[in-house]
Amino acid sequence: MKIKALALQNFKNYENLALEFSEGIQLFLGKNGMGKTNLLDALHYLTFTKTAFVNTDNQNIRKGALYFLVKGNFENDGKYHEVICYHEGRKKKVIKLNGSPYDRIIEHIGKLPLVLSTPYDSDLIRETSEVRRKWIDGCIAQYNQEYLADLMVYNRILSQRNALLKSMEGHLNGSNGSLLDAYDTQLITLSKSLSQVRADFVNKFIPFLSANEGLIVFERETCSMTHQSQVLVVDFERTFLESRKKDIVTQRTNVGSHRDDYSFLMDGQPLKKFGSQGQQKSFLIALRLSQYDYLAKATKTKPMLLLDDVFDKLDDERIERLTDLLSDSVRFGQVFITDARKERTSLLLKDKYNARIFEIENGKVNSYET
Ligand SMILES: Nc1ncnc2c1ncn2[C@@H]1O[C@H](COP(=O)(O)OP(=O)(O)OP(=O)(O)O)[C@@H](O)[C@H]1O
Ligand SMILES: [Mg+2]
Repeated sequence: MKIKALALQNFKNYENLALEFSEGIQLFLGKNGMGKTNLLDALHYLTFTKTAFVNTDNQNIRKGALYFLVKGNFENDGKYHEVICYHEGRKKKVIKLNGSPYDRIIEHIGKLPLVLSTPYDSDLIRETSEVRRKWIDGCIAQYNQEYLADLMVYNRILSQRNALLKSMEGHLNGSNGSLLDAYDTQLITLSKSLSQVRADFVNKFIPFLSANEGLIVFERETCSMTHQSQVLVVDFERTFLESRKKDIVTQRTNVGSHRDDYSFLMDGQPLKKFGSQGQQKSFLIALRLSQYDYLAKATKTKPMLLLDDVFDKLDDERIERLTDLLSDSVRFGQVFITDARKERTSLLLKDKYNARIFEIENGKVNSYET
């Protein structure tokens, strides 16, 4: 699957834009605040139907405009597809594939595999477990629709159960007790399947991480990760049911797969505590490359790879290694790279491969092949 063209109307700082892409490396160059990351976010919208960042859909409508439209034209084995994402103020967002709107937006997830690395990836190490769960869930959802459907049901029942616990204000009676029973049965069953899929993912993912560690990470250290779950133990069901008293007092659900977490390890030690800043940054790039390789294998495609400000994170030797490995056209399809330092990038890529350059200035783009 390749994206041939991207068109934007009133998306962030772009009023009207039409771009064409080629194979291989696509470089978005421009000073700070010109709109490089916004283009990556537009590609993220076409894949995940939402932003990769914290803004709401409304905040992504260009200031003063009433709607935004993101359109992508894709080619897969000689067949052409058009994906449109349209959002207008208070109305429901519309996603269309070849002119037909989806009834349920989640049916689109997984159709256009994509991996994005951004400077915010450090949140995966530093922030709470929710950020890591979201990342893993997003990885799995791109090739496992059943998992995504189960996860949506789980999240809905969990928020219903939490709302019930709040409304009970610490008091259990017959009617809310039987409603809790019904929620518990479903949460127990779904927790088991969701956490099992996550555990399987991590087991299969670790060899990909090992394969990437030497490429840009460390010379001697080994990289790994673990999955911690209250669910995958023999007495999970009993623990869940026994937690009800505490749940009623605390007015929230304390046990289940929404409490799963992951740790990143370097030589068996937590990366968060023992990794230097540079090692953490390098680890995160290896993590994204591993995600790319994993997804490529699971979907039998070459996902779009988006690297936002990736060179900023690395020393010269690692940049050299990264640019060398990105030139492998057997492994990578289209790679979108942003950089605020045009001269550095031009120098880096010189003689390595042909790239399509997009020079970006205040929402206007000038493109040419090297
Ligand atoms: N809804 C919007 N309407 C108008 N402009 C917007 C909107 N949302 C974001 N922008 C503008 O987009 C610009 C940021 O673009 P972007 O993050 O793509 O920059 P960048 O080229 O990646 O910069 P950097 O090199 O600093 O990362 C900001 O100037 C911001 O004001
Ligand atoms: Mg940026």
